[in-house]
Amino acid sequence: MYRRIEQLAVATLFALALLVQHSGATEQPRTCYTCEGINCQRTSIMKEQKCLNSLDYCVTVFSKFTVVQKGCSLEVPIELRRRCDANTVECHKCNTDRCNNLGQPNYLCLQCDSSNDANCANNVSALTPMRCSSPTATNSYCFVRYDGGVTTRGCSTTLADQRSCYANANCLLCSPGDFKGCNSVDFQPGTRALRL
Ligand SMILES: *[C@@H]1O[C@H](CO)[C@@H](O)[C@H](O)[C@H]1NC(C)=O
Repeated sequence: MYRRIEQLAVATLFALALLVQHSGATEQPRTCYTCEGINCQRTSIMKEQKCLNSLDYCVTVFSKFTVVQKGCSLEVPIELRRRCDANTVECHKCNTDRCNNLGQPNYLCLQCDSSNDANCANNVSALTPMRCSSPTATNSYCFVRYDGGVTTRGCSTTLADQRSCYANANCLLCSPGDFKGCNSVDFQPGTRALRL
């Protein structure tokens, strides 16, 4: 009930702001990816919703690095939306259609392939870790993989990718929470240097 009243109040404020700023201009409501709880870890389900309020925007709410909710901000439960209202790293807000597809702002990995950037193999200090897409796995990892003389570094965001890397002695997973761009490390191919 309280939530409903708050949403109405926010919607009214938005509506007033719209009147003042656009004096009647028609704004298309956003379309956002949406998921809730454990369904955010199901790769086969990629649902979308059209926001009820034409001035609403998209969010992804995280618990540490794990996605716990996606959707239109006003349709996210208030206790989760607090992470967005307080501008914490556990919320990604954005304002274009289907934009809520990124990982937590600290989920940063080097993303390169030595077949088109030689620095990826032997000069990683020249590269900047970049934000990953939103994970469907509970854990978020970066990886380094050697494959027939080619070095690949990137984000490991799905359980299938993480399992296949873990099963491959030429592939190493590391946690982005430990330090930025953890996959700048190298190891002797065939002898994965670190274990999870
Ligand atoms: C490493 O990258 C930097 C910046 O791009 C470049 O100036 C330097 O020459 C590179 N070093 C090697 C050994 O390739």
